[in-house]
Amino acid sequence: MKLSYNFFKSVLLAVMLANVVSAAPFTGSLKHTTTQNHSIRDLVVESFHPESSFETFGVEGIAHPLSARDEFDVKEATVSFIQSRLNVHPDTVSFRTSFENDVAHHAFVEQQVNGVPIANAVANVAFNKANQVVSFGSSFVNTTSVPSTTPSISLEDAISTAESQLSGKFNEHPATLKFVAKKDGSLALTHVVQIQNDETGAWFEAFVDAHSGELVQLTDFVAEASYLVLPITKETPTEGFEVLTNPQNIAASPAGWHSDGTTTTTVTAGNNVITFKGAQTNTTTESSPVLNFIYRQDPTQDPIVPVNVDAARTNAFYIVNTVHDISYIYGFTEAGFNFQNNNFGKGGAGNDRVTVSVQDAAGINN
Ligand SMILES: *[C@@H]1O[C@H](CO)[C@@H](O)[C@H](O)[C@H]1NC(C)=O
Ligand SMILES: *[C@@H]1O[C@H](CO)[C@@H](O)[C@H](O)[C@H]1NC(C)=O
Ligand SMILES: *[C@@H]1O[C@H](CO)[C@@H](O)[C@H](O)[C@H]1NC(C)=O
Repeated sequence: MKLSYNFFKSVLLAVMLANVVSAAPFTGSLKHTTTQNHSIRDLVVESFHPESSFETFGVEGIAHPLSARDEFDVKEATVSFIQSRLNVHPDTVSFRTSFENDVAHHAFVEQQVNGVPIANAVANVAFNKANQVVSFGSSFVNTTSVPSTTPSISLEDAISTAESQLSGKFNEHPATLKFVAKKDGSLALTHVVQIQNDETGAWFEAFVDAHSGELVQLTDFVAEASYLVLPITKETPTEGFEVLTNPQNIAASPAGWHSDGTTTTTVTAGNNVITFKGAQTNTTTESSPVLNFIYRQDPTQDPIVPVNVDAARTNAFYIVNTVHDISYIYGFTEAGFNFQNNNFGKGGAGNDRVTVSVQDAAGINN
């Protein structure tokens, strides 16, 4: 990542927003692509997530092709909106699920080609109660080459490949056939199988190419830590919170974010930062083991209701640790007197982690 003025602006804004749970209307768009390498022994699988964009259209929203209808059908509205927005055939859109709350109707879809869904090309649409579109996120892809939808490698062979490469056993969860969009724009037809190892606790969703037999994509269900946060690349809450899995950089935080190498916690306190409200004993505890911090902020309630305090402590914990890890890579290390309790014998001075008091009683909404 390049450190730019915009980056710091977004960090500052995010830190401020950790204190003020804001629901300011936002109109704009954002795009990013990610790849993640999983290393299992000598095996490296590079999992690709296509460029995703997220746009919001203010509280009033924008019309979709079926807005004028009296009856709202979430499936038809979603498909017609995506078709017109992305200029794709309705057959490209495979409706998955939807849910409704007091303010909006949310729909989730997968892109499909020749009737086969693309596992990593998805989209979501939110409608307000006036039947207008208020947000749209998409990682749909333009595909350069589409393989045959008839596998040339059997499911049994794909399972044995996955079992041997991932040192586990197929767990009998029903296998599916899906495309995976690759970095070069091509699609791979894959057998999707779940592999578990009860002894090591490993649990993967493996995508084995049904034509080449290669393991092309991997989802690791057993993550060390997950946080529901506003990613540092986003500026405002309306751009969408995401669950980030293992966002820590081990080169910068060798013991992770919840340990100083000696003491390990299951709260928002670690070697680089502690986030709390009122007193340093009042941190946020994991929402579920192991180290999941999934607290969804509720902008319709006061900032000080517990779920919003938990969301704020979690977000501030993520932001400050991320700033620690990024600036470390750029030279703000122990020897440069960075902020850490334990400096692991690498110079500088310890016992100076950042203490973040969220929604401090001395003044809120500041
Ligand atoms: C993943 O590994 C490949 C091959 O070793 C390398 O080219 C690529 O840059 C790595 N990607 C990431 C995100 O680390
Ligand atoms: C695919 O390419 C066309 C033409 O360049 C573009 O209009 C469209 O938005 C692209 N679709 C996606 C999903 O990227
Ligand atoms: C501790 O945090 C909770 C929210 O989780 C908050 O309601 C409470 O006021 C805080 N305690 C103090 C002493 O500030």
